[in-house]
Amino acid sequence: MQRFVGKVALVTGAGSGIGRAAAIRFAQEGARVFCADLNLAAAQAVVAEIGERASAVKVDVADYASNQEMVAQVLAVAGKLDFAFLNAGLYGAAEGLDTVDEALFDKLVAVNLKGAFNGIKAVQPVIGQGGAVVVTASAAGVVGHPANPAYSAAKHGVVGLVKSCVDAFAARGCRINALCPGGVETPLIGAPDVEIVDGQELPRVPLRGMGQAQHVAEVALWLCSPASGFITGQAQVLDAGLLSTFAPVMLPIGP
Ligand SMILES: NC(=O)c1ccc[n+]([C@@H]2O[C@H](COP(=O)([O-])OP(=O)(O)OC[C@H]3O[C@@H](n4cnc5c(N)ncnc54)[C@H](O)[C@@H]3O)[C@@H](O)[C@H]2O)c1
Repeated sequence: MQRFVGKVALVTGAGSGIGRAAAIRFAQEGARVFCADLNLAAAQAVVAEIGERASAVKVDVADYASNQEMVAQVLAVAGKLDFAFLNAGLYGAAEGLDTVDEALFDKLVAVNLKGAFNGIKAVQPVIGQGGAVVVTASAAGVVGHPANPAYSAAKHGVVGLVKSCVDAFAARGCRINALCPGGVETPLIGAPDVEIVDGQELPRVPLRGMGQAQHVAEVALWLCSPASGFITGQAQVLDAGLLSTFAPVMLPIGP
């Protein structure tokens, strides 16, 4: 399918994992893609995978001015912006409440929550009619995560931020949604990036299993497509059932 011919997409955190998968899939669907990342070399490597339909942009999402500059570059080159997948994020060294300190809390909030705010502020005034924004939160953005409360707090903030921005995007004829993935095998948790397959070939993940970056990318693209035109302000969980039952670790799990 070529769902996004003539469209311009911006992906942050595009140098790795979910962002890389989304950038590749946006390009396969015909979009002009801007791959933004703090790690410019990683973004450039993804651009090399994609080919001439992609450009690399350096951004530190935690920095307000850097986000403004990123969007200015997109507009200078492509003249418009249709979709923004604001996906860059940091899990950090998972520290529970006993050991997390102020510096780590501030860092995780700066990248994950303020980064989402900065990206939204940069794209909202310029995104085109019919456009869409997808922001990567986490399953840890809708339930607590004792192993990393600072990350969970930041991702909960992302969900509240996205819901609060629905009207501002609707005024431009656009939609905004959050994605809340469960565990995904990416470099964030030490797994390598994998080859992108045809969307039809993606395996169904067994109950509470780990997803692949492309599982998340496919939902991000769907949330940008006209097929999801009735959906805005949602926190879309994709977790192979991880959050679907009460206290799953306490219950026997069937075959
Ligand atoms: N992997 C999981 O299990 C999982 C689960 C739920 C949510 N998420 C979220 O998905 C998103 C993508 O994660 P991933 O698993 O693909 O991780 P990843 O580590 O593979 O990719 C994250 C990318 O973000 C970039 N980045 C980090 N800080 C940045 C900054 N300040 N400015 C710009 N870019 C920056 C990194 O360089 C990297 O390329 C993150 O928001 C993460 O919190 C991941």
